[in-house]
Amino acid sequence: MNSWLIQNASIVGRETADIAIENGVVTEVGTGLTAPEGARVLDATGLIALPGLVDLHTHLREPGREDAETVESGSRAAALGGYTAVCAMANTSPVADTAGVVEQVWRLGRDAGLVDVQPIGAVTVGLKGEHMAELGAMADSAANVRIFSDDGFCVADPKMMRRALEYVKAFDGVIAQHAEEPALTAGAQMHEGEFSSQLGLAGWPAVAEEAIIARDCLLTGHVGSRLHVCHVSTAGSVEILRWAKSKGWRVTAEVCPHHLLLTDERATTYDPVNKVNPPLRTDTDIEALRAGLAEGVIDVVATDHAPHSSEDKDCEWAAARPGMLGLQTALSIVVKTMVEPGLLDWDGVAERMSRRPARIAGLDGHGLDPAPGVPANLTLIDPAASWTVVPNELASLSRNTPYAQMTFPATVRATFLRGEATVLEGKAQK
Ligand code: NCD
Repeated sequence: MNSWLIQNASIVGRETADIAIENGVVTEVGTGLTAPEGARVLDATGLIALPGLVDLHTHLREPGREDAETVESGSRAAALGGYTAVCAMANTSPVADTAGVVEQVWRLGRDAGLVDVQPIGAVTVGLKGEHMAELGAMADSAANVRIFSDDGFCVADPKMMRRALEYVKAFDGVIAQHAEEPALTAGAQMHEGEFSSQLGLAGWPAVAEEAIIARDCLLTGHVGSRLHVCHVSTAGSVEILRWAKSKGWRVTAEVCPHHLLLTDERATTYDPVNKVNPPLRTDTDIEALRAGLAEGVIDVVATDHAPHSSEDKDCEWAAARPGMLGLQTALSIVVKTMVEPGLLDWDGVAERMSRRPARIAGLDGHGLDPAPGVPANLTLIDPAASWTVVPNELASLSRNTPYAQMTFPATVRATFLRGEATVLEGKAQK
């Protein structure tokens, strides 16, 4: 069942070869291979084989908001998007701030069996920023947590941030910061700029992100720990990260597909599907984010897949929750914004959407190019195909995509988790 012969795939956009998989493990990569015993044969002519994508930033909403997403429905969306592993954010209800909750999420992911679900633990109890959560107990649990984040909220207190950075050094953990100085974003509804002035909506200034990133880079350098910056959205943040990396500090960063494609002009529609945190910014920011991702100053693309029920999203702008779906559209948006303009090749995509995120999260067996002995966590992409986003056809239980009716390049034809096809012919297998 977990044995395959994938024929004529372009390996990470390079040479064309066959991939033999036996019992979930790649046994051979080469030309004219014979099928392992009992293997199914898949003709991958014209398709690109990438190591299965890894998302560092997914909101799965379970426990607590199973009306918006479950571990299973989000896992299905992930597999359809080409992912074999996702890191589940801690802002559930109850919050994932104890070993019990992270183990629950981890078990739900294992039972769904579509992608590996790696829980992220909260930094502070209830995401309230006051008392540190049981980081050690979460690290020691079956969920083996290595990334901690209060995402949705910033760890705003510099003393708390310093202590958390120091604490995770014991097990080579990383603090993933939602960089937003709350004193500068009280009541904010969108990016602070020309359109917020026109619309009379309270602005979320770029400096609120940049000030926290600068502070946290300094703290990380000071204590010698690991910082990961979530959803970087401004040109100034790219400059700060470049500077921090030049110091040799252990800082990594992610950018979201929507920040590579959409601008704050979208807010003029007043359609809350465009409301997200951090907000959509400007063309100048997009240009700097794309360049930063190409250069490697921004390490990875992460989705910030943030499903919301229509009750929370289909209301007036100010009342709507921030967040947008991302898992099924991420790869196509990276192709559109980075591959088509010549900023990244397929190896660059593999690096930013699979290898580096797997390394940051410490996910053994993920982010590895097909080679003998490697677990068969793979995705097959059709680079010549295009597709149109139809919200009702997405696997998420929520419908809050800003890409409805937009046509994008590249489709996911198949995804393999340890040799099991979770997606075949573009369709989920369970
Ligand atoms: C996130 C969510 O919905 O959980 N929303 C978002 O816009 N990114 C949390 C957050 O505000 O970061």
